[in-house]
Amino acid sequence: MDKLIITGGTVLDGEIRISGSKNSGLPILAATLLADEPVSICNLPHLNDITTMLALLRCMGVGVTIDERMCVEVDKSSISDFEAPYDLVKTMRASILVLGPLLARFGKADVSFPGGCAIGSRPIDIHLKGFEAMGAEIEVDGGYIKARAPGGLQGAHIFMDTVTVGGTENLMMAATLAKGITVLENAAREPEIVDLANCLVAMGAKIDGIGTDHITITGVDQLHGCTYEVMPDRIETGTYLTAAAASGGRVLLRDTRADILEAVLLKLEEAGANINVNGADIELDMKGNRPKSVSLRTAPYPAFPTDMQAQFTAMNAVAEGTGTVTETIFENRLIQIHELNRMGAKITLEGNTAVIKGVEALRGAPVMASDLRASASLVIAGLVASGETMVDRIYHIDRGYECIEEKLHTLGADIRRVPG
Ligand code: UD1
Repeated sequence: MDKLIITGGTVLDGEIRISGSKNSGLPILAATLLADEPVSICNLPHLNDITTMLALLRCMGVGVTIDERMCVEVDKSSISDFEAPYDLVKTMRASILVLGPLLARFGKADVSFPGGCAIGSRPIDIHLKGFEAMGAEIEVDGGYIKARAPGGLQGAHIFMDTVTVGGTENLMMAATLAKGITVLENAAREPEIVDLANCLVAMGAKIDGIGTDHITITGVDQLHGCTYEVMPDRIETGTYLTAAAASGGRVLLRDTRADILEAVLLKLEEAGANINVNGADIELDMKGNRPKSVSLRTAPYPAFPTDMQAQFTAMNAVAEGTGTVTETIFENRLIQIHELNRMGAKITLEGNTAVIKGVEALRGAPVMASDLRASASLVIAGLVASGETMVDRIYHIDRGYECIEEKLHTLGADIRRVPG
C-alpha cells in the first residue's frame, strides 16, 4: 500500500487549481443512466471513486468514453445488466446512487447492500422507504437490494426523517421519470444536490425548490442528452485553506467558489486568516501568524460540513488556545484524534465532542489513515509537525484528493509518495 512521507515545518505558500467536485460528480454520473441520449460530463476529478463509478457503469454494459481532460461521455444505449456488484459497492458506498436511476429508467435494479464503514453504521433506510412510497417493491436477498417497479414509479409525497444527502439525490433522480409529482420534504440542501439538480434540469427534468428543503419534481416521459460541467470541490478547497492556515502560510486557490463555503470561511477568519475572494479565486493569508483555536459543531448545509471537521481538528491541534469540535452527523467520525495524539496533540474526547488544547508543535510519527477526511487531517498534521511523518493506507486520500502530493509540493511542502 502506498504511503506519504512528509517532512514538516514548511510554511505553505503558492497557488493551485481546485478540481471538480467528487461528491457531485458521483451522483451526476449515476444520473446519466436516466437519459435516452449520450450525456457529456466535464470537469470530473481524476479520483479512485470516480473511476469506480465509471467501472460500475461499464460493468452494466454502458458505453463510457473519456478524453484527456476528464470529460466523460456516457452512452447507456448498450446497457445489458442492472446490477451493482458487491466488489464495486464494497469499495465505494456511493454506488447506491445507481439504484434510483436504474429503477426509474428500467424498472429494476439489483444493488449490493452497502455495509457500515469506519465512520459509522450509515444506513440507507430512508432511500428504500422513499422508493417504496413511489411504488417500488424491495427485498433484500443474498446481500443484494432487489428493487422492482415493472409499471414504472409513481410520484409521492415523501418526508425524510433525517437530512440525507445521498437519500435526497437518489429519490430526486428517481422522481424525474416517475408518473406525476414527487415532493421531497426535509430534503438536504448541500451544493452538490443543487449541482445534480441543475444537471438533471439540463437533461430536461422539471424540478422546483432546488437548494431548499422542499423539492418538487414533476415527472417527465424521457430525459435527453446534455453537456454539463461539474462544480468545483468545496471540501478540497476547504482542506487546502485549512492546511495553509495551520502552517501560518498563504495560498491562492483558482477555479473554486466561495459562496458555497461560507461556514468554513467564517471559521478560518475567526482563526485569524485574512481571506480575499476575487471571482473564482480565494486567497488566504495568515501573515506568518499561528492560528487561533476555533470551536464548531457539524450540521447539514449551510452549517459547518462534517467533511471539514477532521481538518479543523488538526488545525486546532497547533492553534493558540483551546477549541471544541462537535460531530453531529456521523457516530464515529472523531477517530483521527488518536493518531493526532500520537503526534503530540492534546485532544480528549467527551461524547461526540473533541476538546483540543493547542500545542506549540506536533512531532512527526508513523500514522495510519482510517477514512478519507481523517487522512486529510493527518496530512495537515504532518505538514506542521517537526520531523518526518509517514501516513500509511493513503488509498483513502486517493479516493478524494486529486494529485495531493503534486498540489502540496506546488505550495512548497516536502512530501513524497512511496509505493508499497
Ligand atoms: C454524503 C457525502 C459525505 C458526507 C455526507 C454528509 C457523498 C458521496 N458523500 O454522504 O462525504 O460526509 O453526505 O454531508 O456525497 N442516514 C440514515 N438513513 C439513510 C441515509 C442516511 O439514517 O437512509 C443518516 C446517516 O447514517 C448519517 C446522516 O443520515 O448519520 C447523513 O448521511 P447522508 O447525508 O446520507 O450521507 P451520505 O449521502 O452517505
